[in-house]
Amino acid sequence: MRITLSVIKADIGGFVGHSESHPDILAKASDCIEKAKKDGLLIDYHVTKCGDDLQLIMTHQQGVDDEKIHKLAWDTFVDCTEVAKKLKLHGAGQDLLADAFSGNVRGMGPGVAAMEFEERKAETVIIFMADKTSSGAWNLPLYRMFADPFNTVGLVIASNMHNGFSYEVHDVKEHKKITFNTPEEIYDLLVFIGAPSRYMVKPVYHRDPSEIAASSSSQRLSIIAGRYVGKDDPVCIVRSQGNFPAVGEVLEPFTLPLLVEGWMRGSHHGPLMPVSVQDSTPTRFDGPPRVVALGFQLAGGKLIGPRDMFADKSFDNARQQANDIADYMRRHGPFEPHRLPLEEMEYTTMPQVVEKLEGRFTSLE
Ligand code: F6R
Ligand code: MG
Ligand code: MG
Repeated sequence: MRITLSVIKADIGGFVGHSESHPDILAKASDCIEKAKKDGLLIDYHVTKCGDDLQLIMTHQQGVDDEKIHKLAWDTFVDCTEVAKKLKLHGAGQDLLADAFSGNVRGMGPGVAAMEFEERKAETVIIFMADKTSSGAWNLPLYRMFADPFNTVGLVIASNMHNGFSYEVHDVKEHKKITFNTPEEIYDLLVFIGAPSRYMVKPVYHRDPSEIAASSSSQRLSIIAGRYVGKDDPVCIVRSQGNFPAVGEVLEPFTLPLLVEGWMRGSHHGPLMPVSVQDSTPTRFDGPPRVVALGFQLAGGKLIGPRDMFADKSFDNARQQANDIADYMRRHGPFEPHRLPLEEMEYTTMPQVVEKLEGRFTSLE
């Protein structure tokens, strides 16, 4: 049975500030989506949140980028924005950058990750959702999962993974893409994905047989809008077990609280802390950035789950390390490398300050 799994998300209002989602928003979203399930458009759905982002996890048979599915998500975000406005939540409708829906939510503000596949005898999927960070945050974890034998021992000792995976990498500034085969091209791959503000891993494929393994949202809100309008807060779907890394191999990269951009005003680097959905409440200096992981088994497209994978105690040390790193980073105040480098600050307050002071800069000679 061919199934499409779509995750579409947007920040349509925060409670309180940018720290959390209001339960009324989640309830409204469930109402909207339930109707689509009753009408037969969806097989199943799960509505959840990561920090101030509303997450719509949907299964159906319409294929990726289907207009009806995108319209359902857009209409849901619009209806939820109405609720957010009534409650005067912070930044109501902030990720809806267009006035009206025009066929596809890509480029209109919401983030999308989707994949279509033949459901396996046991179809294990993990859905990652992050808050207070940008789309390139998945580069390092996806590298570890599918190309690093020190993370995924299956690459070494499981014959069904020994031929490796291929990575499609998007250059979001030049609007180009390129595919790298691993393991033979890992050095070339790392040249690019080690610069995650520009190059982002989009889908990952099992090479032999060719099969979709992972798919991430790679849109950069600031590039779409040409100015700072909030963080991308990306999502990523990963298939697990069998020909793909085991659940433990998929989760292992997040034991490192990697440094990502997106903390306070989208202008600071901070550690990505793996947490349960309940703990995705970034409050300290509007952070530190969070990532949640929901695991499902699919049964004829039905979402059996979720299991809240980072609720497990084995991630306590990663959380402790993230808090220690947060202390250390915060002591840098408004200095790089806690604060983002100048090129990235272009999308924040930097241009206005430069404009204001333009006449006061004089030549050194
Ligand atoms: C939002 C974020 C926050 C806000 C900050 C200012 O994702 O990272 O740090 O940038 O709270 O928010 P505004 O400008 O909405 O008052
Ligand atoms: Mg927000
Ligand atoms: Mg957010």
